[in-house]
Amino acid sequence: MANTGFTIWFTGLSGAGKSTLSDALEKRLRQHGRNVEILDGDIVRTHLSKGLGFSREDRDTNIKRIAFVCGLLTRNGVVCISAAISPYREAREWARQEIGNFVEIYVKCPIEVCRDRDVKGLYKLVDEGKIKNFTGVDDPYEEPEHPELIIETNTETIEESMQRILHKLVELEYLD
Ligand code: PPS
Repeated sequence: MANTGFTIWFTGLSGAGKSTLSDALEKRLRQHGRNVEILDGDIVRTHLSKGLGFSREDRDTNIKRIAFVCGLLTRNGVVCISAAISPYREAREWARQEIGNFVEIYVKCPIEVCRDRDVKGLYKLVDEGKIKNFTGVDDPYEEPEHPELIIETNTETIEESMQRILHKLVELEYLD
């Protein structure tokens, strides 16, 4: 199965660690000789999904666009990493069907910890009433029911998470 394309689909709250894990995983996969593309929520929203907001309809459109691109790349042997919140189960299932070789990883972290980290200062803006419909605060996050893997970023190191993800990819026969 070496060089088969697949998509790692990270899902989780803002500040849970999706982008950090994506960057670390990209490096590891390149060491395995794989071509890797990351579709990160913030970056996608400045290009592919420019102009979309955070209503359910816009989030679903965003996820479908990301899934479409991941599908194209995956079919051509690339490892695709999506790092969008992707809060709705239905949209994630849609992505799974669209892409096929799909590894859903729930980046799990209590919202209090995400709030304490507040990497981008967004939770502060939410508290000040300057951002509405924020995932996990006043907008839904539907936890995955059967993800391939759960990574708990408040209890494990990045290195431990990498080991667990790479082990899962070998188990699924995406990596030798
Ligand atoms: S989604 O739901 O999958 O379409 O979201 P995504 O494309 O990943 O975009 C999430 C990033 O947008 C910022 N942001 C918000 N997130 C959630 N809810 C609201 N209302 C919101 N407004 C802005 C935030 O920086 C998210 O990035 P991450 O990397 O998840 O922190």
